[in-house]
Amino acid sequence: MGGVLLFAAADSAVQNASIFSPASPPAQSIHNLSILILAITGFIFFVVESVLFYSIYRFRRKESDRRSDHSTEPPQVYGSAPIEIAWTAAPLLIVVVIVLVSARTLWEVNIDPPPKPGNHALFVTVVGRQWWWEYTYDQFDGKPLGVVTANELHIPVSEARTPQPVYLTLKSADVYHSFWVPRLAGKTALVPGHTNSMWFQSAQQGLFVGQCAEYCGTQHANMLQRVVVDSPLDFQRWLDNEGKPAADPAIGDSAARDGRSMFLSLSCVNCHRIRGTAAQGNYAPDLTHLMSRQTLASGMIANDRAGVNLRRWIADPQAVKPGCLMPSFSLTNPQLDLIVAYLRGLN
Ligand code: CUA
Repeated sequence: MGGVLLFAAADSAVQNASIFSPASPPAQSIHNLSILILAITGFIFFVVESVLFYSIYRFRRKESDRRSDHSTEPPQVYGSAPIEIAWTAAPLLIVVVIVLVSARTLWEVNIDPPPKPGNHALFVTVVGRQWWWEYTYDQFDGKPLGVVTANELHIPVSEARTPQPVYLTLKSADVYHSFWVPRLAGKTALVPGHTNSMWFQSAQQGLFVGQCAEYCGTQHANMLQRVVVDSPLDFQRWLDNEGKPAADPAIGDSAARDGRSMFLSLSCVNCHRIRGTAAQGNYAPDLTHLMSRQTLASGMIANDRAGVNLRRWIADPQAVKPGCLMPSFSLTNPQLDLIVAYLRGLN
């Protein structure tokens, strides 16, 4: 939570991670419930504190008490049906209201209405991994897809005349994680061996940040999330591009071509996939369209076009994200240059 707020503050958009600025129906439901609970508990707090301070002041020790011998007690009252009924009925009523409103909120944030064939829904499977997010685009607008990407979820904006809900199927490859983009929806756990689901939609374009909300090991705090809500046209363009196999380096670009050969000869291929090449690992992020992403290392550092951070990352991942599962391969500078030259072309 703190990490997201700092990250968002650095982006000069603190609102980006606030539950008090909902941009999706489930987040709105949770926001409404929290305001109601805050109002009820705030009222109770105010009443209790008022009575307390009134009593402290009204029955404070006075001059007359000091002179008396304390043998006379105030009148003692035993049992009062009206008072007992009142202090039983009032809390009961409050609890009933909270139960009913919470039940309605639970209903709203769960998949409701269930996805119908024919609506413009996007279906994505999310796999939580130490310490990044794998997104597999299963279906959009009724058409099956096979797009795999990491860390940045692109979704289409949901307009009033064509609502485009996003349905996530949540799984884990290792330990418990929790999907949380506060402005879009509440937290949902990613549980090993169990499938969860959630949904949201946003009428507002732009970037929404979040982060893993369940402690999952050393780099839990750097398991950041970015959801990019695109215009329908931008989303379709992004989706079409992601569906293509990786770009071949230009004929004349010998650095990139040598970089590809080197990449394919190293153990990078055991973990990473680059569709259209022999690299078919499925343990680490899919790199087919690496440069279409804004960040590296699950939101930690910018993925600059020049490849400066990419080079830094490949040279020594442990220096950037200590404990991450990508080892350092102790590549020489010329080797790094070639690999970065190749990867920079994966748009
Ligand atoms: Cu994944 Cu915390």
